[in-house]
Formats: sequence, C-alpha cells, structure tokens
Amino acid sequence: MLTLIEKEILDLKQKHNALILAHYYEDSAIQNIADFVGDSLFLAQKGSESNCDVVLLAGVLFMAESVKILSPKKTVLIPDMNAGCSLVNESPFSEYKKWKNSFPNSVMVTYVNSSAEVKSISDVVCTSSNVEKIIQSIPKDKKILFGPDKHLGRWVKKITGRDMEFWNGSCQVHILFSAQRLFEMKQEHPDALVIAHPECDDGVLSQSDIIGSTSKLLETVQKGKHKKYIVATEDGILYQMKKSRPDVELIQAPSNSSCACNQCPFMKMNTLEKIRDALKRLNPCIEISPDVLQKAQIPLQRMMKISRNETVVWN
Ligand code: 13P
Ligand code: SF4
Repeated sequence: MLTLIEKEILDLKQKHNALILAHYYEDSAIQNIADFVGDSLFLAQKGSESNCDVVLLAGVLFMAESVKILSPKKTVLIPDMNAGCSLVNESPFSEYKKWKNSFPNSVMVTYVNSSAEVKSISDVVCTSSNVEKIIQSIPKDKKILFGPDKHLGRWVKKITGRDMEFWNGSCQVHILFSAQRLFEMKQEHPDALVIAHPECDDGVLSQSDIIGSTSKLLETVQKGKHKKYIVATEDGILYQMKKSRPDVELIQAPSNSSCACNQCPFMKMNTLEKIRDALKRLNPCIEISPDVLQKAQIPLQRMMKISRNETVVWN
C-alpha cells in the first residue's frame, strides 16, 4: 500500500506528465518511487529519450544538467539545487579552460561529473561505464587531457596505454576507502570478490577483482557465482544488490575512519518531501544559458554516439 507522500508524488507525476529518475546512490524510498533507477549514463539516456514534459532527476546537479542539455525543451527538476559533487567543485571553469589552452593539440575528455560550462569547452564527455570506449575512439596520435577525476583517468590510462594528462580532482566519497584496511579485510574474507568503482584510488583498485560503473557492479552481484562481495562504492547501491541477491553476503569496503564516509552527502540531500515539493512547484528547475547549452551539446552528443557504436568526426 502506498504511503500518503508516495500517493501525492504519483498524483503530481500524472498531472504534469512527469518522469522520475533516481540514481543508485539515493535512499531506497526514493529508488522505490522512481520510473527508472540507474547509473549516470542510463539516466541521461532515459531522460532525453522520454516523451514526458517534465523530468525529475533524484540525483545530483550535473546529472539533471545532462538531461537538460540533451533535451532543452523539457522542464528538468532536481529536488535540491545544492546537491552538487566534489568533482564539480574542484574543476572551476576558468582554471579548467587555462589547462586546456596550455595543450593546444590535444583532445579534452571530460567526465560527466562536471559543470555545464566545463562540458561546453570539452571535446567529448564520458561516464564510468563508457570511459574505455570513449578513449579508444580517439585517434591514436592525439594527446588526451582527462578531467576532473584523476583516479578514473589513471585507471583508464592503465588499460588503454594512451598518452594522457590529468586534472587533479577526486570524489570525496570514493577516496576515503582505505587500501590498508581493505588488505586486512581480504585476509579475513579470502572467499569474497572485491568490486570497486573506478573513482577509488589506485591502492584500492589494485586489490579489486572487478572495477566498473555502478551498473556494472550491480550486474556483477546479480549474475555472479560468489557468495560474498566486498563493495567499494557508495552504500545506496547495496539496496538493489540485496533486493536481487538476498542469498549473498555484502560487506562494505572499509574507510579510513569510523565515519559514514561511504555515503555521498550530495546524493543524500534528496528526500521524498523535496521530490513532492519540486513536482508541486515545478521548481527547482534547471536553467542553462543558451550559449553554454548549445556548446555542451556537442561533447555530450558525441559521447552518446560513441556509446551507440556510431562513427564520430574529430576536428
Ligand atoms: P556512475 O556513472 O557509475 O553511476 O557514477 C556516478 C557517480 O557519481 C559515482 O560517484
Ligand atoms: Fe560526486 Fe562522489 Fe557524490 Fe559521485 S559520490 S556525486 S563523484 S561526490
């Protein structure tokens, strides 16, 4: 049976012909009322493909901006405008632009966890689920500038062997997993498979069996033969993992201290009450200046094309 607030949200959704999208890091109550739950690439695809007039993105600001950039005519809502991301905060536009200008003949690949302005000066965008494919699609003689996440960048450089420079940014949640404590945990649970998001640092990634986006980590648990998993990513994902595999043991990877470090404070700003209020007021609503939006469409659409195995032109 629906609770009062769930009913209010469903009524408002119908009234405004709205689609609700939630990231895996949201609370289970939010994941339960969403039309689709997924990783950042999937949410951008679902938001832009939909023929709804309104898209509410229960995630962080850059995810809602991606939907708006790909489908500017839609009203795109976010429950809390302050739901940012440390990677966005650590890549201010003017500094990022200076960096780009200091490597004139390179290709700039920007992680989707970035501002619309930063995307607007990038050659192509990537997410953690398509980063390898995007890097492989770039002509081999080109130097690659990769930002803002240096850990994701270093990981993909290791796999592809490409000539890459990194912006010095990181995810404040994923860098707190402790390599030393993970090593000790692995001794205690030698039968566990370690699965990690590539935003973790190399000390954690080098001890991991599977590295990938939130969707890939979920799929690993859903389809895996193991009975035990050590999970190095934000704890919201555990909800879908437990739901589809109640028979397996899920252990959260240890962090450097006893805080709830593996919770993203930005993702957790969203609540059912804020979702209801946003749908009632059609606000907070994503606004991007037409110039930035038009320029940011080019690298985002390029990413979508490469993801669909279509050929892109590099100039
Ligand atoms: P995914 O694209 O894997 O969902 O990751 C988004 C994110 O912000 C991870 O911290
Ligand atoms: Fe940003 Fe990290 Fe939160 Fe993902 S988990 S939204 S990268 S701060």
